[in-house]
Amino acid sequence: MRTNSLPLLLENIHAEACNQFGLGRVADYIPALAQVPPRQFGMAVALVNGQSHAVGDAHVPFSLQSITKLFTFVLALKTEGDALWQRVGREPSGAAFNSIVQLETESGIPRNPFINAGALVITDILTTRYAHLDYALLGALRRLADEPNLHWNPAVARSERETAHRNMAMAYFMKSHGNFHNDPELVLDNYCRQCATEMSCAQLAQATMFLANGGRDLGRAGQPDEQVLSADDARRVNALMLTCGAYDAAGDFAYRIGLPVKTGVGGGIAAIVPGVGTVAVWAPELDAKGNSVVGAWALERLVQATGWGHTGL
Ligand code: DON
Repeated sequence: MRTNSLPLLLENIHAEACNQFGLGRVADYIPALAQVPPRQFGMAVALVNGQSHAVGDAHVPFSLQSITKLFTFVLALKTEGDALWQRVGREPSGAAFNSIVQLETESGIPRNPFINAGALVITDILTTRYAHLDYALLGALRRLADEPNLHWNPAVARSERETAHRNMAMAYFMKSHGNFHNDPELVLDNYCRQCATEMSCAQLAQATMFLANGGRDLGRAGQPDEQVLSADDARRVNALMLTCGAYDAAGDFAYRIGLPVKTGVGGGIAAIVPGVGTVAVWAPELDAKGNSVVGAWALERLVQATGWGHTGL
């Protein structure tokens, strides 16, 4: 695919995407997310050669939600290394992102770091390490996205915190098995702030660039490159995204799109094309499994047109 035809392709995808509004519903189990106008679509592509393209609402900040689990996992992998695998698995769960059932039969060890139970363990690990996890995470994200003004939305964090009964139940259950070291109330504060982080598609595509580029972030605005992860670890994170990034739709996403992804109930999806670049798409209407309907459609259309992901995976 010649990258000079990308802007036109993105324009076409944008035009077709808008015809598909109405097929899903915005998340409403977090009351603040139910207020988001559903008919929005943004898509951004960032290439390892430094080029970037964006269409539609690609510069509108949205709630990252579970996409933040990708960044907290990377932070934990950097700080804890392989020790974290004693507390969380790396197998697809085949169950809903907020399911509690496997925890009972698997002794409080979540299947992977991307389902809610696994992400809570990762946030517990980081809560032990950082006195102010929200600042530590924002600092890392601001560097990766090259955007000093990133923040978490206090109204969204509060709304989730007030209704986080199921996540709280999982945290206490894991604590009963010794797989939670901090006060669940404190970890839930951190987790809800983390999930309420906002970014635009354009920023998200930049922030995930290191995963397409052998673990190395591209230097921008006079900053040098930064080796965020080793190339081996970046490959491993991509494998986990491919197998677990879309929860119980991971098989369907791999079949249709074939790229490592991380989805969120804000309607965002981050996708990695190893060696080529990154794609971030946002459309708030979700399917029954909590993944963006039009976002997944747009990624499918993009890989069909570009051939991305057909080699190297
Ligand atoms: O914990 C929750 O339920 C939300 N803060 C995040 C869930 C989520 O984004 C699942 N992704 N599709």
